[in-house]
Amino acid sequence: MNPLVNLYSDTQTRPTPAMRRAMAEAEVGDEQRFEDPTVSELCARVAALLGFEAAVFLPSGTMCNEIAFRLHIRPGGDEVILHRGSHPLIAEAGGPAAFAGAMVQPLDTPAGMFTGDDVRGALRRPGNRYEPRSRLVSVEQTTNMAGGRVWPAAQLRGVVDAAREAGLRLHMDGARLMNAVVSAGVPASSYTEGFDTAWLDLTKGLGAPVGAVLAGSAELIEEAWRYKQMLGGAMRQAGILAAAGLYALDHHVERLADDHEHAARLADGLREAGYSVWPVETNIVIFDVEGDAGEWCAALESKGVRMGAVGPSAVRAVTHLDVDADGVARALEAVA
Ligand SMILES: Cc1ncc(COP(=O)(O)O)c(C=O)c1O
Repeated sequence: MNPLVNLYSDTQTRPTPAMRRAMAEAEVGDEQRFEDPTVSELCARVAALLGFEAAVFLPSGTMCNEIAFRLHIRPGGDEVILHRGSHPLIAEAGGPAAFAGAMVQPLDTPAGMFTGDDVRGALRRPGNRYEPRSRLVSVEQTTNMAGGRVWPAAQLRGVVDAAREAGLRLHMDGARLMNAVVSAGVPASSYTEGFDTAWLDLTKGLGAPVGAVLAGSAELIEEAWRYKQMLGGAMRQAGILAAAGLYALDHHVERLADDHEHAARLADGLREAGYSVWPVETNIVIFDVEGDAGEWCAALESKGVRMGAVGPSAVRAVTHLDVDADGVARALEAVA
């Protein structure tokens, strides 16, 4: 029996033998005391990649978002403008409210993206004591629940300009930023230009087992360390984990193009089979099914292929390191 074709998420990858070797051989120390050379190298590398002064290694992307919101949001009714389908709003257990005390203003714009004018339209009136205070704009590159769409750099510039004009801070959830980089051929630092904080997830397309890296100014990252400590995210010989991240940055970035090709192939096959597929730009394929998406996925899984229901009738399939062209072909056979 062939193993499961697991398209549930790009978090489903397992470390490759070479990545495991890099982990086993990592030089380590106490990362809380900045004595783990592998963690320090990873942080310096991601800070440079994203165009920031400093970075901090955290256990998860969720913790990056939560700490960043806590850095930007002040007590007293500060509001973050973000898309309705974005991760902090739908999948972080209410963390922005619980941990940062943030008001949220969700935008219902197409494809998980918005424009500078959308931000201008969402701004609260400065000095108005009845309204929350606009404080932060948060964007997701790529847009997960909108199907891995890539924010064009020029559109991000427009958002940065609108936020800056109004004195707002900016945060980028870069869970799949490198997918955008590879898909559009735009350097990561061009996407993050003008942002106060941004992060990369090592555990999605990059294929590492644990970790994400939050970048910002030296001052913000020093403050982020306070919250990392508070949440119990400070680690010890974390170089074992950081080594996987470094390995991924060296070996698993360019190959994201394969995932994008596999996603495009899957999307074509689904369309040929009569499904209505959302636009596909990177490694996420969302499509509509007739009837209940959960039941549809259960039936598919009985044929050896796992996808996930992301709405009453919407199914998501995500390509990654552990799914090859043969896996995509098997997925399409199972769908048929
Ligand atoms: C867009 C986005 N942001 C944040 C996260 C959270 O990352 P993590 O699972 O590393 O906590 C995810 C995870 O699926 C995501 O897709």
